[in-house]
Amino acid sequence: MRIYVVNSYDEMSKQAANIVASQVTLKPNSVLGLATGGTPVGMYKQLVEMYQKGDVDFKQVTTFNLDEYYPLSRENANSYYHYMYTNLFKHINVPGDHINIPNGMAKDVIVECQTYEKNIESAGGIDLQVLGIGPNGHIGFNEPDVKFEAGTHLVKLDEHTIEANARFFDSKEEVPTEAISMGIRTIMRAKKIILLANGESKAKVIKEMVSGDISPKVPASILQLHGDVTVIVDQEAAKELKNCSQFALCM
Ligand code: F6R
Repeated sequence: MRIYVVNSYDEMSKQAANIVASQVTLKPNSVLGLATGGTPVGMYKQLVEMYQKGDVDFKQVTTFNLDEYYPLSRENANSYYHYMYTNLFKHINVPGDHINIPNGMAKDVIVECQTYEKNIESAGGIDLQVLGIGPNGHIGFNEPDVKFEAGTHLVKLDEHTIEANARFFDSKEEVPTEAISMGIRTIMRAKKIILLANGESKAKVIKEMVSGDISPKVPASILQLHGDVTVIVDQEAAKELKNCSQFALCM
């Protein structure tokens, strides 16, 4: 694990955008795994600016999002479909038929999950996966006590996650209690992973993720076993990483 501790949210976003843009420059037909939530908004803003300046071209890129609430329609302003179009897709040139987001209104969820997995495979697997992290250690809504071996599946959202995400909805009751989520097995198959975290609320879990036991209780701890993970955290999220030198590449 490479850990970059940066000074601000802005710096974290720029650094992450540079990594994504380099990936696309080096491999124009890259398959990107994308996250939603508050954390990557700044990174998407940077990518849009880079695209507008002509510094990066997404015309051959394919994307797979990590998750979508279930049930929730694309038209709902809180859907991750809506989030992705608003923050990124409507501003860049990734072709519409290269964009993959789980269907939050799928009639048959099992078929939806199996098809999503097959499509990732047919695209050649994910080259670069972007992750955020929940304060309880979830990645892509793979909540504590996750089965590490699961592919894309229907997950029950943890009470803490529902509470944390209620800020985007009018009330906590409106937050769907389930989601379709790319499983840990699929995430771990990505060739490269970048994980972003900012703010004090992530400090404890960042420490557990990088130096705690590898356990389904902290789903992100499995990333210790991946060969190419870059973690970018601001000072606040890095607060509990006291002895940074214990990590191979702590910048
Ligand atoms: C969203 C996702 C989640 C978020 C996590 C952190 O696609 O996969 O795991 O990354 O809930 O959310 P924020 O960034 O809002 O703190």
